[in-house]
Amino acid sequence: MNLVLWRTILALTAAAFAATIADQPSTPQQPAAESVFVVTPYLQLGDLPKLTSSESVRVLWQAVDDDDVKWTVDVRQAEDAPWRPAIASGGRLIRASGSLPAYRHFSVPLTRLQPGRAFEYRVSKNGEPVFSARGLARAPASEPYRFVVTGDTGADTPQERRIVHQIYRADPAFFAIAGDIVYSTGRQSEYRQKFFPVYNADVASADTGAPLTRSRLSFGAYGNHDAGTGDLARDPDGQAFFLNWALPLNGPYAQNGLPNAPSVKGDAEQVRQHLTAMRPHFPRMANYSFAYGNAHWTFIDSNVYVDWSDAYLRNWLARDLALAVDATWKFVVFHHPPFNSSRAHFSEQQMRLISDILEHRGVDVVFNGHVHNYQRTYPLRFLARPALDRTFRSAPSYVVEGDFTLDKSFDGAADTTPDGVLYIVTGAGGAGAYDPDQTENSPTWQPFTAKLIGDVYSITVVDVDGGRLVLRQVSEYGEELDRVIITKAKSTMTAGQPARRP
Ligand SMILES: [Fe+2]
Repeated sequence: MNLVLWRTILALTAAAFAATIADQPSTPQQPAAESVFVVTPYLQLGDLPKLTSSESVRVLWQAVDDDDVKWTVDVRQAEDAPWRPAIASGGRLIRASGSLPAYRHFSVPLTRLQPGRAFEYRVSKNGEPVFSARGLARAPASEPYRFVVTGDTGADTPQERRIVHQIYRADPAFFAIAGDIVYSTGRQSEYRQKFFPVYNADVASADTGAPLTRSRLSFGAYGNHDAGTGDLARDPDGQAFFLNWALPLNGPYAQNGLPNAPSVKGDAEQVRQHLTAMRPHFPRMANYSFAYGNAHWTFIDSNVYVDWSDAYLRNWLARDLALAVDATWKFVVFHHPPFNSSRAHFSEQQMRLISDILEHRGVDVVFNGHVHNYQRTYPLRFLARPALDRTFRSAPSYVVEGDFTLDKSFDGAADTTPDGVLYIVTGAGGAGAYDPDQTENSPTWQPFTAKLIGDVYSITVVDVDGGRLVLRQVSEYGEELDRVIITKAKSTMTAGQPARRP
């Protein structure tokens, strides 16, 4: 296909997607979504790590517990296509503890979708359509796409609403949150106050947020505020990540009470009910991977209860990345940044223990949060030094010393082939900004930091087109703060390996 034709198709596709997202909210004759649902319908990938020629997504929502209501869902690929019924169950009754009344949780697969194409779906209550939206199926490897990453976001702040509106304006194919999805202890009640109403607002504006999750896939990393306390006596509706997200279940095996995984504790019957409600997601879904377009994505639990020097975990990660042989790009997302120049969280370096795997397995970019600003490293390689007892375990201090190799010739403009892994901190998604005074004070930056912007909230917008990507940092007001281009050497594109200098 020639370039002009391809660009034309891209422009038309972008226009169609823009129209899709601008068409939100649901049609005027329908009742306001918040009057019908406890949580308005939204999309999730479900347990589908691989791209297929017949894609599926899931639509999830929450409603009051009422046996007399019959819910149905229909889907169609185009406006003039006939509606196809999806299989809708009666939902699962969640007997939430604390102040939340029992509710029904629905998760309905929308099947036989064309990869990379828009589709329309509607949810009906007792035969009457009460909600409709347009979604976008996962893109095939042959097509360009845009994604957005942000982090540390669900804080119920004006900045969060502006950030969500900017994600919407960027019109990505999907977006990812690098942890701390909701503050302050990952409770369902907090999701309902600080996340869903903003990320799935009926109206798009800088003051409200946007109808984002109803129309685009989203992915989340499990941050420290998402993990919360794990104590059901204190956070009876905690760990809501495992209820609200439906993502691949291909992480390392995990079980409540075993090391290196989230856990819940409390009254035995309460724990049993909580685990039943979160089945089958908890605790395995804290780590997962999937393909999107020509990229492989791996999301990792970086909380301090996980020891990433553990051989089983390291083998899982190395194998997960090694098996992505068809991926042109490899992206990894976790919450705690291993390389960070802020005063905040500087000593939480436990994730440096996997940098050798990321380098050896050809990871291109790592996205982190936890630190509430934007930081970009030089492409780097890191060799950890063992502790005095010759182990690499980082607890209890979480400081990991080692030796750096920095590629300072890469500037993302004249030199676009990084020698090493780029680490991006993109934690300026709405929770209080960290260290804004460091923005213009580069002497306070670590030697591995190439850019730090802490005086404005921002998102990372990435356009992937074959072996080239453009990474931009965009402020809460839409201004471009940073831009780098990364290109692959042609010989490495099909091997899933990063461009390396000889
Ligand atoms: Fe955090």
